[in-house]
Amino acid sequence: MSSDIKKPIVFSGIQPTGGFQLGNLLGALKNWELLQRENFCIYSIVDLHSITVRNDPEELKLKITEAAAMLLALGVSPEKSILFIQSQVSSHAELSWILSCYTQFGELSRMTQFKDKSSKNPENVNAGLFTYPVLMAADILLYNTDLVPVGDDQRQHIEITRVIANRFNNIYGDVFKIPEGVYPKVASRVMSLADPKAKMSKSDPNKNARIMMTDENDAIRKKVRRAVTDSDNQIRRGIGKEGIENLMEIYSACTNKSLDCIESEFAGKNYGEFKNQVADALISLIEPLREKYKELMKDKKYVFSVLKTGKEKAMEISEVMMKRVNEAIGLGL
Ligand code: TYM
Repeated sequence: MSSDIKKPIVFSGIQPTGGFQLGNLLGALKNWELLQRENFCIYSIVDLHSITVRNDPEELKLKITEAAAMLLALGVSPEKSILFIQSQVSSHAELSWILSCYTQFGELSRMTQFKDKSSKNPENVNAGLFTYPVLMAADILLYNTDLVPVGDDQRQHIEITRVIANRFNNIYGDVFKIPEGVYPKVASRVMSLADPKAKMSKSDPNKNARIMMTDENDAIRKKVRRAVTDSDNQIRRGIGKEGIENLMEIYSACTNKSLDCIESEFAGKNYGEFKNQVADALISLIEPLREKYKELMKDKKYVFSVLKTGKEKAMEISEVMMKRVNEAIGLGL
């Protein structure tokens, strides 16, 4: 591990609740897998972030196991990387409290995700929802992180992490490394299939709006066929063509073909033909991952053993940073 740590450090997290959807895969998880080639990667199932909404305890446990199995199926390698559950490494909650004392109320009030989530759930606007970005900053800063692979919706959270780290460093010296976000070139914001002006999300009540990583091939094809487009019947980018553009980005991310190349490939073809190709590309991508996931869910012992090793390694690294932070501030004796 010590030689690996000389490589650039990558950290990222994903919430376990609700299962993984296509946006998670194309916006972030594809990069999680790719970045393992040249970096030392630390990936976390961020269950503490999930409890800003109410969960059934048994279901939450199952979702955490499923998330771990899916991440392994997607290519997170226990040989190369660390995979662990956030709540099992107590430094995360500890550093989060400390950093909240270096974060301004006004800064958190400006977070669009907070505004969005609190307006959608007015009956449970808890303090955890408000301080959520501080916990995320703690996750990242604990590991001397250089790079954070995330989708476009996390930009503001990466930015506030940098603001908090810089503020802390200005007071106490160079304690934290200043991390940078890594975003995919296409499909950094996968949009809903039912409303191309809204982000694809696992919390959308309309199940046809998203493709889940566990969807069977028929379901994938049906959802793509139903995807909202426009009446112009031309496969190209442009104003009022958000639905087609979203499908083009998805197709591009699945096939590595550029958007220009896709426009020429489908010139003169109709939406039905294009949607069939998009569905085929998605099925080729998702089917092997889904089947690997099913196999891994039959071997939970293996999944738990990966998480246990991950927890030990994450504790070892994060405790060094916790000690440094406490000493810098003058906590304890
Ligand atoms: P979460 O669990 O909502 O999503 C996990 C990752 O998937 C990306 N994503 C998308 N990308 C493109 N299009 C979409 N429609 C889409 N939906 C989700 C997200 O950008 C994210 O990268 N706060 C984070 C989790 C987190 C974290 C961290 C991330 C906690 N601590 C530390 C990085 C570093 C979140 O809720 O992601």
